[in-house]
Amino acid sequence: MSDLANSPAFAVVPGAAVQQALAGNEKVVAGIVENAYRLHGGGRTVNPPSYFLRFPDRPSARIIALPASLGGDEHPVDGLKWISSFPENLGKGLPRASAVLILNDPETGYPFACLESSVISAARTAASAALAADVLSRDRARPSRVGFAGTGLIARYVHQYLAGTGWEFSETGVYDRSAEYAEGFRGYLERSGATGVRVHDDAESLIRASDLLVFATTAAEPHIADPAWFDHHPLVLHVSLRDLAPEMLVTACNVVDDVEHCLKANTSVHLLEQRLGHREFLAGTLFDVLTGAVSAPADQTVVFSPFGLGVLDLAVGEYVYAETARAGRLVSIDGFFSELSRHG
Ligand SMILES: NC(=O)c1ccc[n+]([C@@H]2O[C@H](COP(=O)([O-])OP(=O)(O)OC[C@H]3O[C@@H](n4cnc5c(N)ncnc54)[C@H](O)[C@@H]3O)[C@@H](O)[C@H]2O)c1
Repeated sequence: MSDLANSPAFAVVPGAAVQQALAGNEKVVAGIVENAYRLHGGGRTVNPPSYFLRFPDRPSARIIALPASLGGDEHPVDGLKWISSFPENLGKGLPRASAVLILNDPETGYPFACLESSVISAARTAASAALAADVLSRDRARPSRVGFAGTGLIARYVHQYLAGTGWEFSETGVYDRSAEYAEGFRGYLERSGATGVRVHDDAESLIRASDLLVFATTAAEPHIADPAWFDHHPLVLHVSLRDLAPEMLVTACNVVDDVEHCLKANTSVHLLEQRLGHREFLAGTLFDVLTGAVSAPADQTVVFSPFGLGVLDLAVGEYVYAETARAGRLVSIDGFFSELSRHG
């Protein structure tokens, strides 16, 4: 007979509980993400390449598996993020991305939680962008005019995390190839108290008017190719990874989250590596910037390209799990593991 009383615990954390755990905690989450980058840069993580599942009959869709292990003394955890991107969902009134995160106990390997993870993924992406904006502008004039190219869920979270970690802007520019989505984002910005909100008719106008740029489009191929638009040397958070023409990056200060991860999957930096046959155009990683080994020059455009590391999802997911447990909101599945006796 199985001994269900000794069954390893397993819980589900629904999206509403994830949102409650994260609400108003942008600075805490940015600190958790910074710590995860420091563990990763210090060799205390395992973060193999993401695995892309694609479909011949649905070429715009993909599901990505991000297995990872986060070490360190405080909250070690293993796990897997499994995240879908179905861009055509927008036409059905559903977000593009949906995801779950599985957390595994590093002592036994047993999965102990399944968390709704589109919110965790957006939060860790936005916290990483806000952290990068902060550390990459330490040796430059702090940006005061932000511009968002692509105005979906990720843009909204990046704005929320910039505001929640202390950024204030005199101007907030918006550009999307869909005028309807740009207007929707303008509505969000105005409700959230942003000042100087302006919708731009084209990317050039947005770029020239911004000293901090956030690219969060779903462009599959580069569509920004004129280096003159960047003559004012903005700080660029290239979250969507494929907007900038590779040749434009040659003269930029290029910072990535992880070199091996980012030089893959036809990101703009990957295309540039293929063209040049080397990686010398990379200044370093965000960890190098955090440790002071690399700094961002004032007289160059600075481009941060984050591929998105599974260890960030684990770090934020573990925090969400612990907060949800503390608040008594875990949905425990008693007896989830039922075969506990080897010989019956
Ligand atoms: N690097 C990371 O860690 C990371 C993590 C999460 C998401 N992302 C990326 O962020 C991007 C945005 O995600 P989302 O969930 O907000 O998507 P979304 O579909 O909600 O929004 C994307 C927006 O981009 C607009 N757009 C597409 N092509 C454009 C173009 N050429 N010019 C201007 N606007 C354009 C669309 O109209 C849409 O409004 C995706 O590419 C996603 O893969 C990156």
